This record gives sequence, structure tokens and C-alpha cells, in this order.
Amino acid sequence: MTFAKKDQTLFICGRCGYESLKWMGKCPDCGEWDSLTQQVRRSRSAAAKISAARVQSLSHLAPTQQARLVTGIGELDRVLGGGIVPGSVVLIGGDPGIGKSTLILQLLSTLARDDRQVLYVTGEESAQQIRMRADRLEVRNEQIYLATENCVESIITMADELGPALLAVDSIQTMFSEEVGSAPGSVTQVRESTARLLALAKGSGLPVILIGHVTKDGAIAGPRVLEHMVDTVLYFEGDRGQVYRILRTVKNRFGPTNEIGVFEMKESGLAEVDNPSALFLAERPVNVPGSVVLPSIEGTRPILVEVQALVSPSSLGTARRTAIGADPQRLALLTAVLEKKIGVTLYDHDIFLNIAGGIRIDEPALDLGVVVALLSSLFEKTVAPAIVVCGEVGLAGEIRAIGQMNMRLREAARLGFKQFLMPDSNARHLDAGPDSAMRVIGVQTLRDVVDNLFQ
Ligand code: TYD
Ligand code: MG
Repeated sequence: MTFAKKDQTLFICGRCGYESLKWMGKCPDCGEWDSLTQQVRRSRSAAAKISAARVQSLSHLAPTQQARLVTGIGELDRVLGGGIVPGSVVLIGGDPGIGKSTLILQLLSTLARDDRQVLYVTGEESAQQIRMRADRLEVRNEQIYLATENCVESIITMADELGPALLAVDSIQTMFSEEVGSAPGSVTQVRESTARLLALAKGSGLPVILIGHVTKDGAIAGPRVLEHMVDTVLYFEGDRGQVYRILRTVKNRFGPTNEIGVFEMKESGLAEVDNPSALFLAERPVNVPGSVVLPSIEGTRPILVEVQALVSPSSLGTARRTAIGADPQRLALLTAVLEKKIGVTLYDHDIFLNIAGGIRIDEPALDLGVVVALLSSLFEKTVAPAIVVCGEVGLAGEIRAIGQMNMRLREAARLGFKQFLMPDSNARHLDAGPDSAMRVIGVQTLRDVVDNLFQ
């Protein structure tokens, strides 16, 4: 926040954070009605008092060797980059009912087992409801302290008094600061509450976990403001109808991003999945057209996933295009390249693309998987079950090199795959061992792909 020369009255939109000097009935930025509320911005002199005498030379800073707080839940430690950094603020976002509160309770339970006091503050559920969940998860520990509270100032007082090893706040949208006028859940409140908890974490070294709800358009409520403020952002993904849950690192000031942790939702809570590749391939149909396996890299780990496509003549005027777990734009692009370079007709076909198991793949290596699945379904020809494919497809129909090929190769070999169709430029630089049973097929163009798989 910038500071004015003297205290200034502002009107801030509770939905998008737009600032105006005068009140307006409708926010000119997001178009919401009656969303601007009055607020006071502190003067520079007040701000100056807070930040005075804190300038120091970088080389004079004491080296910090503070150990990370290892959660004991391997998949969670992985996405955090090896545990929770002292004084850091982690935001866990996800759809309602995906399992955020469950994960937190399990985390608190493993921490408390090592005789650490932890504090769980909820603004969503009653103590009874938490108790019921704890019973279900068989979490019983004297060191887990629970409070039902919505006011951040009170939470900070509680944390100061108890001095826990970790503070979890469920959810940030239900919290409010006494010093801000607007309603809980509004951007201003969410931002202000986060700022207070951030100050608490940085000032005392207490790690804080915030739970955040995701809005309909997929962002953590408080239009991305929160993501900029906190140190680490994790998203809990997955279909509520399915048992698998994926925790993905979207931002991490203390570790790699795009790392994923895989969990299974069971009767007694979330269980870690040790072998995600086996899980994502578990229900793969063999010898069915439109299915192919892709060795993908998620963060620092290779995971094999099944790419499925269904291509069938459209009965409607305009053909449908649906992509689940993949970028629809990318699908449109690849369809266009296929039409142009292979000469297949797709404009009058409905195309459905799905990454099995509810996982989302963003990397360019997916291209070849998509192309092969589409062609396989269109031609009604199966891809041999022991083949894996990956590579980027360019607009000229060329197959382009991708990264971390050796890692993908090892994972595919580990799961018993025998052939690997990959970009030729990758194939020429592999360090496959002498005992490698994998047959590598290098391809340069889409035409090569068709010749190798569908002739
Ligand atoms: P919850 O953690 O309350 O979700 P969130 O906090 O993200 O809204 O999890 C709710 C879902 O998880 C609910 O549909 C029931 C299911 N669940 C299980 O299957 N097993 C369990 O042991 C628990 C506690 C929940
Ligand atoms: Mg919850």
C-alpha cells in the first residue's frame, strides 16, 4: 500500500479492489453495484514511524539456518519444497468439499504427534463439526488447540498467548479485521486480514497456513491479490466424484513450482499415493482406439498419464470441441495442424479430449500424446499398449525437442513400457544404459508419426 501525506479517505470496491476518491454507485472497473465502501489510508508520517531504522546491509544480515518444519506427510513436504519455512505464509486453495480442512487436520495431527502445540482457527465450522471430522480421521491429540473465531486481531492475540508451532486459519474468506469497515469475504477484508497474519508470521517466525476458497472462475477469491502477498500457493485439484486429489504448487518462494502431491480420499481421510503413474494407468483400457500413454513431468517428478480422445462425425451444425485436463486452445491448434499437414478432415467431427484420472497437464510434451490419441480415434486404429509418446508439435507439423527426456524414459521403463516415440532431436541425445530394453523411435514430422504408428 502506498501512503499519502495525510490521512486520506478512499472508497474501495469490495469485489475487485478498485480505488476511487469519491463514492460511486457502480464500480467502473468490475461493474458491481453498491460495492464501494469508505476507508481511511494512513498518512506517511504514521507509516514512517513503523518502518524507521530497519535498513541494514545485506552482508550484515545473520545467516539463517532455521530448519524447515517437516510435516511428516511426504506428498505435502514435496510440494512445499521440503517442509514449511519458519515465518512463511502458505495459502491452500481449492473448491469446497475437495478436502482442504481434512488435509489441515491431518497435518496438525502429525505435527502435534511430535509434541508440538498447534493452533487451528476456523470461521466456517463449529467445534462440534471439527470434532466429528477429527473422530473420523482418528485424530486425538492434546496438543491441537482449536478456536472458532472470525476476528484476526483476536487470532493474533491467541497466537501470541499460546505460542504454537503452526497456525492454521480456515478459511481466510471468513475472517475480518476490526479496523476495516467492509464485510467479511470482500476483497478489502481478505486482503487486510491476510496482511495482518503476514505481519504476525514475519514478525514472530510463526508459520501460518491459510485456506482459501476458489471462485467459480477458478481464482482464489480476492482477485489474485492473495497470491501476490503470501509466500507459497498450493491448489488442491481433482474431481469431487473421484477419489484422487492433486495438490499443486502454483507459487513458491522457497522451492520449485508445479510440483504435485498425489492423495487418495479414503474413509479415514487423505492417504498418500506412492506410485502415481501406476494409479493414473490403473484403469487404462488396452487395445482401444483413442488411448495413448504420455510420460509427463510434474515439477521434479515423472508421472505417466493416459491421454484419451474421442473423434466422431458431428451430427450438429457446429462440431464440438471439449478438453478436460488440457488446454482447449492447444487442442484447437493441434487439430488445425493435423488438418493442414496430414490432410485429415476434422472440422465436421466432434472432438473430446480427456486426461484420465482428473489430472491436468500443461507442458508442451502433451502435444504428441494429443495428436496420437486423436489420430488413433479418427482412424479407429489402436496404438500398441507398450508404447509411450511425448513431444511438442510445431505449427509446421515438426516434432520439437522437450526437456528431461532421460527421466521420462526411466519412468516408462520402470512401468514396463517397451517403445518410446519421441522427437528425433531428443532421441539423438539420450544416455540410455546398455541394458535398456526400451526401443526408441525418433520422429521429425507428423508424417513420421503416422508412418510409425498407423501404417
Ligand atoms: P473437507 O476437508 O471438509 O473439504 P473442504 O474443507 O475443502 O471444503 O472434505 C470434505 C469431503 O471429504 C466430504 O465430501 C467428505 C470427504 N471425506 C472423506 O471422504 N473421508 C474423510 O475421512 C473425511 C474427513 C472427509
Ligand atoms: Mg473446509
